[in-house]
Amino acid sequence: MRGTTTTNFWTMSTVFLLSSFVHAFGSHSCPGLECWYLNEKVARGGLTAPPSQEKSLLHISAEGHHAPSLEDLADPSFLRVYSVADPAATLCHRSRKGAARKPHCELSRFQPQFSTLTWAASLADGLSPLYLQADWFSAAVQDLEGRHGTSSIMRAATGTNELDVVLTVTSSTLVVQSRLGEPVLLDCQFWTNTASPLCGSGFAVEWRYQYRGDGRLLLAYDGKSDRVSQSPEEGTMLDFEGLHRKGNASLVLQEAQVHHSGMYICMVYLPHLLAQVTIQLEIAEPPSLSIHPSSLPVTAPGQILTVHCEASGFAPHSLELNWQWKGPDGKTRSLGPGRLTGHRQAWDGTYSQDTRLELDTSDPELGGGGELTCVAEHSGGTRRASVALRVIGFSTPSIEDSMAMVGVALVLYGFIKFVSWTFLPSGSTDAEETDKKEK
Ligand SMILES: *[C@@H]1O[C@H](CO)[C@@H](O)[C@H](O)[C@H]1NC(C)=O
Repeated sequence: MRGTTTTNFWTMSTVFLLSSFVHAFGSHSCPGLECWYLNEKVARGGLTAPPSQEKSLLHISAEGHHAPSLEDLADPSFLRVYSVADPAATLCHRSRKGAARKPHCELSRFQPQFSTLTWAASLADGLSPLYLQADWFSAAVQDLEGRHGTSSIMRAATGTNELDVVLTVTSSTLVVQSRLGEPVLLDCQFWTNTASPLCGSGFAVEWRYQYRGDGRLLLAYDGKSDRVSQSPEEGTMLDFEGLHRKGNASLVLQEAQVHHSGMYICMVYLPHLLAQVTIQLEIAEPPSLSIHPSSLPVTAPGQILTVHCEASGFAPHSLELNWQWKGPDGKTRSLGPGRLTGHRQAWDGTYSQDTRLELDTSDPELGGGGELTCVAEHSGGTRRASVALRVIGFSTPSIEDSMAMVGVALVLYGFIKFVSWTFLPSGSTDAEETDKKEK
């Protein structure tokens, strides 16, 4: 009880200290975010040169614009310094603090556009040309370590460096690995700035799927007319209520299957604006292993034994199969991969592969018996299957064997003695010897 009270006390004082710290240094609660500004220069003759990168600094605050410090402005390594008002504080995500590596941030100019999609045409109502005539930016922040990503569209009055976040899309599942048959959450949340005239006139959400250059639309939803123009594929689910209430555009795959591996793009539209995050999903199912025969016959030395190992039900198809041998001394050594077959694919997209090993028991290292293991290394995990091997007549005699041998020797000796006493005339040998001596 006392321990708990003390802990509570410390926790509370820490929270108090932290909150007063945040209050006192509110503008510093989010450290400056370093960002690469991608500058698309148009070279002479109208050809587009590859974008050059300029180091820039974003001062992010939830409370409004703060003038950059003189120190930052004087830092020659930053060619651009911006002040960003981000009321939802999405650009400065909590998990990023104290992360070992800095998140990767890219900033570029954004061109507001009419949506080319017919179903999103309704979003173009009530456009505001004055509002649109400004400097627009797009920032993409990726923290792959924390699997967190943010993409924001920001507006600045022409020629100023005060950016206002208008639309933000975030995901806390940038990289997802799942086993087969499990439900998968592809997290996507969006936030719109209600102070912007582009908000309140509706939004639209699209999910796209991409794999090796092929892509397709998984879902398209117009939030203004509450219409689905591309219904969710079978086995996928989106909570439309949560989408309207909290901006939760997450897609749920009810049962992960092999063909779900790929890139998922969550795109959120406001009239003229688009922000998106890309989530990478890998379905990784480790193999099931079985060894045939499942128990090896007791073997005489010199015999060749053939053992099979079958790895099945795995995905993706990259697999490392190997055989290992463990002798009575406990030492392990590799016997190599054996003879591998090609991959076979099952109806559910999973793969199987076999390997065959020929064990020559005359090998002195195998002669003492031991344990044979088939090892499968896979991105979904390592699996092993073992079988024991016993070889007869090769092993050095045990104490019991030695005792038995002594016993047998004694019995034999006694038997020979008995035979010689019974069947050989007792005098003759003595007589012959005497004869020889006399000669
Ligand atoms: C978003 O919705 C999904 C279900 O569609 C749910 O599993 C998830 O927890 C929700 N996320 C948040 C942050 O509310």
